Amino acid sequence: MPNYLCGVLKDNHGRIVNYLRLAVTDRCNLRCFYCMPEKGNNWLARTELLSWEEMLRLCRLTIGMGVNKIRITGGEPFVRKGIMPFLSDLSGIKGLDNLTITTNGVVTAPLVPELKKIGIKAVNLSLDTLDRARFQAITHRDEFDKVIETMHALISNGIDVKINAVVMDGKNTQDIPALVALTKELPVSVRFIEEMPFNGGGQHYQTLVWDHMQILQTIKESYPEIAKIPDPLYSTSYNYKIPGHKGDVGIIAAYTRSFCGTCNRIRLTPQGILKTCLYDNGGTDFKHIIRSGADDAILSSAIVTALSAKAIDGHEAERTTYSSGAHQSMAMIGG
Ligand code: 5AD
Ligand code: SF4
Repeated sequence: MPNYLCGVLKDNHGRIVNYLRLAVTDRCNLRCFYCMPEKGNNWLARTELLSWEEMLRLCRLTIGMGVNKIRITGGEPFVRKGIMPFLSDLSGIKGLDNLTITTNGVVTAPLVPELKKIGIKAVNLSLDTLDRARFQAITHRDEFDKVIETMHALISNGIDVKINAVVMDGKNTQDIPALVALTKELPVSVRFIEEMPFNGGGQHYQTLVWDHMQILQTIKESYPEIAKIPDPLYSTSYNYKIPGHKGDVGIIAAYTRSFCGTCNRIRLTPQGILKTCLYDNGGTDFKHIIRSGADDAILSSAIVTALSAKAIDGHEAERTTYSSGAHQSMAMIGG
């Protein structure tokens, strides 16, 4: 049985759930082809999104139930008006030990000093290539310089930086050595992510060529001295270091899904659907529950109920909730 006795929230498999990923908008100022189509995105109307107040309420509640880490995602979080005051309010909630953000870095650089002041200690920056032309081909926008500016602003403000690079067959695999080379002089963690089928379109490959083993093999060709380092608790990445480099390297088997056994997370989509797995096509509609006047006891019990049906892993979630091959956009789920 799931429970949250003494502020510890557990799922039906006995796993502790202490991590909420909160997607604050479906909108984005890039169009990464693995995430959303270039044209024809039907953005959610503002009233369909959870308001900042509703999000704060759900965050407070889940923190009271045992969540101590929240990651803000999107879409691109910094395109939604009101994000900075929201982050400031959120960071003040007692019991939240770890507040992090995933951003594409396009409009983030000027906000970095304020993020530092708010107490943000770590940011994940999406960057799939160090080549401007390939950046534009992947994201359909010419914003490479602003992302690099954000990376340097984060580093110089002492905020931990993880670079998220999705590895795409025929698109950016030639960038793998250059991205690893970034770790030589910069204290960043470069994480290569297997491409997942969440591109908002119908395309879905049956086998993944660039899986975590292929990625590691490719890194080893340029860096045979690469060494395994310990993986932190709940880590979704296999972690490595090139001896002598300031930063490190991670590989996330997001498609292979080898990390589900220690899953500690839940997700809230921009429209307020609580998903207990990234690969879950369903979920619980918390916007509806909140707007029908539910008190905190009802909301808490709805969270416990959702966690009583969490899939054992992403394969089970996908098998049981997707009837066709068409997967949502990552921007609708929260990356
Ligand atoms: N496959 C893998 N990762 C993805 N992301 C978005 N779409 C996909 C996908 N189809 C990740 C990117 C980005 C984060 C927001 O989500 O790494 O950094
Ligand atoms: Fe925007 Fe991130 Fe999706 Fe790219 S992956 S389109 S940056 S939300």
